[in-house]
Amino acid sequence: MTARLVFKTIGRTFRSGQHTTTALAGVDLTLEPGSFTAIVGPSGCGKSTLLHIAAGLDTQFQGTFTRDPANAKLACLFQQPRLLPWRSARDNVSFVLEARGVSRQEARRRAGEMLDLVGLGPAANRYPSQLSGGMQQRVSLARALAVDPDLLLMDEPFSALDELTAARLREELVALCAQRARTILFVTHNIPEACYLAERVIVMTAHPGTVMAEVDIDLPRPRSADDPRLAEVAARVRLFIDNGRSKEIAA
Ligand SMILES: Nc1ncnc2c1ncn2[C@@H]1O[C@H](COP(=O)(O)OP(=O)(O)O)[C@@H](O)[C@H]1O
Ligand SMILES: [Mg+2]
Repeated sequence: MTARLVFKTIGRTFRSGQHTTTALAGVDLTLEPGSFTAIVGPSGCGKSTLLHIAAGLDTQFQGTFTRDPANAKLACLFQQPRLLPWRSARDNVSFVLEARGVSRQEARRRAGEMLDLVGLGPAANRYPSQLSGGMQQRVSLARALAVDPDLLLMDEPFSALDELTAARLREELVALCAQRARTILFVTHNIPEACYLAERVIVMTAHPGTVMAEVDIDLPRPRSADDPRLAEVAARVRLFIDNGRSKEIAA
């Protein structure tokens, strides 16, 4: 099972006192089951807001959002690993399984397997403070995948990491995603990253945040980050964003 997401004329306005911010306006977007979609756009264009709506964390929006099936299993990965500091890597992963009713013994066994999968088996007993940023994000990825999600929502998960670590994690993500069809929504401000990972790149512009273009990326996986065809696509995406910016400035 994988999930289909449909956003129809989504709007979101934040009000605080006299101040209102239209974070999103008129967003129409469909994510087909098993597709890998990246959303790129400048900081503040509403990417995280859209992801929060997809995750069900924000319900104060206008328009309609549907997730089909409604009980699709969902996992999120954020920029910060958000690990529990008093639990080992293994227990950070087993925790989410136990919360879903898996026995402690089985949860710990599966957590070990997931950590092996992300290359962290030997560090399973270490605590977050004993792990590098990249290793912590790997634990977070293992935790997200441990529930075998139909839908994986990621908000700039690699942007706090050094480029070499981020590049390795991108490769690993592609390999892990090849093992089972899932619907993936990946938010980033990193254009080459979006083009490397996704089948489709959605370009957003700000004020108000809206979809201004879609770019299909028909290159087979695994891709080489140095593929000149990716650089060409990235240049096209950049052009859309720059055009959007110049419209903002003119307005
Ligand atoms: N809880 C909030 N209260 C007020 N304004 C918010 C809130 N969350 C986001 N915003 C505003 O909405 C806009 C979009 O934010 P966000 O979705 O975080 O953008 P992005 O993830 O693309 O950087 C920004 O102008 C931001 O300041
Ligand atoms: Mg954001």
